[in-house]
Amino acid sequence: MVAEHHLSSADLIAPLFVREDISEPQPIESLPHQVQHTRDSLRAEVTELAELGVAGVILFGIPAEKDYQGSQAWSWNGIVQKSLEDLRADVGDDLVIAADLCLDEYTDHGHCGVLDADGNVDNDETIKAYGQIAVAQAHAGAHVVAPSGMMDGQVGAIRQALDSAGCADTVIMAYSAKYATTLYGPFRDAVNVEIAGGGDRKGYQQDVANAREATRELQADVDEGADIVMVKPALPYLDVISTARRELNVPIAAYHVSGEYSMVHAAAQRGWLDLEAVAHEHVLAIKRAGADVILTYFARQLCEQLRRAD
Ligand code: PBG
Repeated sequence: MVAEHHLSSADLIAPLFVREDISEPQPIESLPHQVQHTRDSLRAEVTELAELGVAGVILFGIPAEKDYQGSQAWSWNGIVQKSLEDLRADVGDDLVIAADLCLDEYTDHGHCGVLDADGNVDNDETIKAYGQIAVAQAHAGAHVVAPSGMMDGQVGAIRQALDSAGCADTVIMAYSAKYATTLYGPFRDAVNVEIAGGGDRKGYQQDVANAREATRELQADVDEGADIVMVKPALPYLDVISTARRELNVPIAAYHVSGEYSMVHAAAQRGWLDLEAVAHEHVLAIKRAGADVILTYFARQLCEQLRRAD
């Protein structure tokens, strides 16, 4: 009766992977119970998730061919664009269909942007490409585009590109306070990404040591036109979520990332933790800190747990 927060399926977004050159879903060793989907297995999964009452899904694509520019990210025949068309035909507006908007899954060097002659990410060339990706995703049927590359000015550039292409209703959910964490490891296995030369993303993602900087990043994205802003990862950054909730008047998303999910599985496999109980506690804690919507690989399992508890 006096519980302040309850978890609901309508709080959750399921991240899903779709891969071009496969005929059967492929398991991802470091991300238990998650797979690289085929277009068909993705359709079946999303139909089931809609029946379970999940708020939405967010798609990540793995193209057959990666290239220097990452051109499959904006190709009208790209794997995510094709899947968006499939899903809108299947489920329409029954749940929110979002697309991750970035280049790292599509470039052969694994960086989130276009490189300059010295091999460094060129911020301003990159945000032009992001505008093109946003328009391709919106035309293919994305309700929401979710830029995750942490380039300066990306939200403004995407808003402008969408509005000029007649996609004023497409929502931007910005990965605004995205930290250069070690917790993305299993995700990079899931999308077959290795950063060239053992590089990292510390030049564009946030320093783990900084909290005030997150407030500036979040506010900048709101000012540029973000509809929803995101903090990522989630559990080690509950302070950032909580501050964002106090200071901003827009919906806040939190991404409970691959490493946060896989470590619970690893402990549970050894019998050290109760998987269902920890999954619920972790995601509820993220909601308590102030997140309105939570992206988590536990989405399906939690929807099933919540349905059983009803
Ligand atoms: C970049 C992107 C990443 C994740 C989501 N979008 C990886 C990165 O920045 O290296 C990570 C998600 C996760 O770990 O679950 N396109």
